Amino acid sequence: MVAVASAVKHAVRAEDVNLYYGTKQALKGINFAAPARQVTAMIGPSGCGKSSFLRCLNRMNDRIPGAKVTGKFDVAGMDPYAKNADLMRLRRAVGMLFQKPNPFPSSVFENIALAPSLHYGIKGSTLEGMVEETLKRAALWDEVKDHLRRSALELSGGQQQRLCLARMLAVEPEILLMDEPCSALDPISTGKIEDLISELSKDYTVLIVTHNLQQAHRVSSQLAFFMLGELVEMGDTEAVFESAQSEVTRDYLNGRFG
Ligand SMILES: Nc1ncnc2c1ncn2[C@@H]1O[C@H](COP(=O)(O)OP(=O)(O)OP(=O)(O)O)[C@@H](O)[C@H]1O
Ligand SMILES: [Mg+2]
Repeated sequence: MVAVASAVKHAVRAEDVNLYYGTKQALKGINFAAPARQVTAMIGPSGCGKSSFLRCLNRMNDRIPGAKVTGKFDVAGMDPYAKNADLMRLRRAVGMLFQKPNPFPSSVFENIALAPSLHYGIKGSTLEGMVEETLKRAALWDEVKDHLRRSALELSGGQQQRLCLARMLAVEPEILLMDEPCSALDPISTGKIEDLISELSKDYTVLIVTHNLQQAHRVSSQLAFFMLGELVEMGDTEAVFESAQSEVTRDYLNGRFG
């Protein structure tokens, strides 16, 4: 594996991570590090463990009966698996965006306002200002400013995905996990999300799983290639695309399998 320079500040570190679903081992000895305020793309054939690995970082595998995780983690300065781990704090610091947008079945406004009003007690004009600011950061404000009280489910898929992104930003996370966030979107909506990812990486650490190699190339500065539950190679995106160390990585990038 290609090591990442140790002087870099990492927002995510994982050492010797193993994940089992019952007796089946889905992740094998993963050593992974994602630099802070950069975009790290995760690629690899279907079933290689990309989603499983993302879920390890905010303990979403807890919800899967029989799932067992071992290894050392540092995620936004926290150990998600520590005995006294604060799961609320972890899930606020580590947001997640899925393949299929999943807005709450309530208004556009409530989708953004719910968590800040519940967790931080923000109300009234402060809350309104915060909703506006957050929707602007997700490049959605102009499209929804006249329909804030309409159901989020009336938005297009691309708009719903940006709304989910805004909802995630509203709790001031540090790390944004995205699992194939554009796979259900048309090219224009995909372009908008990609532009947003680049913009957001000035302030947030982004980990994105994608099957689209061009997308990985466009948006990321670090690239991690997974195969059969192993992290085969990780390094500078440009360098991996130009001259991957491992032959399997080269074959995958050249479309020879997967
Ligand atoms: N809830 C689960 N229970 C049991 N096995 C699972 C579960 N989720 C995933 N797996 C298995 O773990 C392995 C890795 O799956 P995972 O979904 O992490 O792959 P992936 O790289 O995200 O694939 P894709 O690109 O298709 O999304 C696969 O063999 C899969 O069958
Ligand atoms: Mg997946």
